[in-house]
Amino acid sequence: MKILITDFIAEQGIEILRAEHEVHIRTNLTENELLDIIGDYDGLIVRSDTKVTEDVIESGKRLKIIGMAGVGVDHIDVPAATKRGIIVANTPEENIVSTSEHTIAMMLALSRNIPQADASLKANRWDTERFIGNEVKEKTLGIIGLGRIGIEVAKRAHHFGMNIIAYDPFISDQRAKELGIELKNLDSVLKNSDYITIHTPLTSGTRNLISDPQFAIMKNGVRIINCARGGIINEDALIRAINDGRVSGAALDVFACEPPSGSPLLESDSVIVTPHLGASTIEAQTAVSVSIAGQVLAALHGEIVQNAINLPSVRPGVMDAMRSVAESTGSLCAQIVQDFDVIEIEYAGRLFDTDIRMITHAALKGVLATLLGSGVNYVNAPELAKERKIKIKESKAIVAERSQSITIRLKGTVVRSVTSVFENDRMRIIGIDGCDVDIFPSRYMIVSRHQNRPNVIGPCCTILGRDDINISAMQVSCADGTAIMIMSVDSDIPHQVLEEIREVDGIIDAVLVHTTTP
Ligand code: MLT
Repeated sequence: MKILITDFIAEQGIEILRAEHEVHIRTNLTENELLDIIGDYDGLIVRSDTKVTEDVIESGKRLKIIGMAGVGVDHIDVPAATKRGIIVANTPEENIVSTSEHTIAMMLALSRNIPQADASLKANRWDTERFIGNEVKEKTLGIIGLGRIGIEVAKRAHHFGMNIIAYDPFISDQRAKELGIELKNLDSVLKNSDYITIHTPLTSGTRNLISDPQFAIMKNGVRIINCARGGIINEDALIRAINDGRVSGAALDVFACEPPSGSPLLESDSVIVTPHLGASTIEAQTAVSVSIAGQVLAALHGEIVQNAINLPSVRPGVMDAMRSVAESTGSLCAQIVQDFDVIEIEYAGRLFDTDIRMITHAALKGVLATLLGSGVNYVNAPELAKERKIKIKESKAIVAERSQSITIRLKGTVVRSVTSVFENDRMRIIGIDGCDVDIFPSRYMIVSRHQNRPNVIGPCCTILGRDDINISAMQVSCADGTAIMIMSVDSDIPHQVLEEIREVDGIIDAVLVHTTTP
């Protein structure tokens, strides 16, 4: 397979990819250049410089994964990728230390005028009075966004003796307290901070989060740091706040438009800047590159992708196996009935008392791929069901002593259901249409319904025997006068043989199903 890398990533990850696939590195592409070539690739790896637009995703006909070698995915059209069944994965842990260290470096550089003093001395001046700074000790640091990086910044700022307050609607008071941070609302953080640092992702809700009204309530002389994403601080409002003295200094690693050529921010003595270097350390880039390479390989091999952001996570081990059971059960069910508008998925067993969203994705993939073909995958299965107005119902019965079972029920003009369990490392089918059966799935199985009376099963077996088709396992079960028969056969069955079985007196219907055996 072919992988395209369009931004700089460290060699270690590239080597991992090259060991198995063809890798092309093409940096500084225009969108049109990317559109021209993306159709040839199965995987795309970017950092924050490449914009992965809907058009790029549409043109990436072979794409299976877009890997972000970093945290932020605001430059990737994730909904468009999800719709096309393309996994988007990032590396949420690997560069948080580097970015938090860069934030602290920027805060200290701002407090002590380091870039300005450096430039002055190199211009042969000895300005000891001009660059008088401030200590950060006992100052209040306001952190906007207490995610992984915000927390790392807080830990470091504690060691400088700073008071830390934070705004984050998604973290509990209890967790903030454990971290020694006082949670406040946004206005209160803005009013009470000597330093403000931003650590939220860029979303429609955080774009221009800090603009004129927010600057207006900040303390006079506040210093502001942004190593998260450009666009969260409105840059025109920042310039106004600097010019009227409200903000005494800003340290910016990120910009609304990168590079920020011609921006008045670059002209201001009160602004210090770096070119999006937060994650740019040898340690972070090595870790990020290895992590994203591993995830791209996993996606190309059809394995679990650790940090897929448009897929729920699944614990390796039994839950991973249950994912395969759900997919096979869904597929089996959809082979016996194709006309339905409701998919019910019922989980029983104590293991399901956890996050089972990925197992539901797998069940949906099993059902829908049977009907719609290979374009269906774990990413887009829920979206495809929604587009087709198929209702999805999930329920859990947490039964302590029972093994883990999954029942998939497809409801339309008729209702058909299949129940499977996973025990001793193997899947077994234990119910069809509410009738108890107990059979290991095999490659070829005939699932039929017949009237529960003599001389129906025998003629079916005779037809198969006549054509030299061996029955290797068989189950018959009955409920309400209708019997279910499952026959595992050793080979594929010609269509006309299946037709003959369907015509046997007493047979209601019969289908040949193909199953995989997790
Ligand atoms: C990130 O989101 O982790 C960084 O912005 C990635 C980068 O440095 O390109």
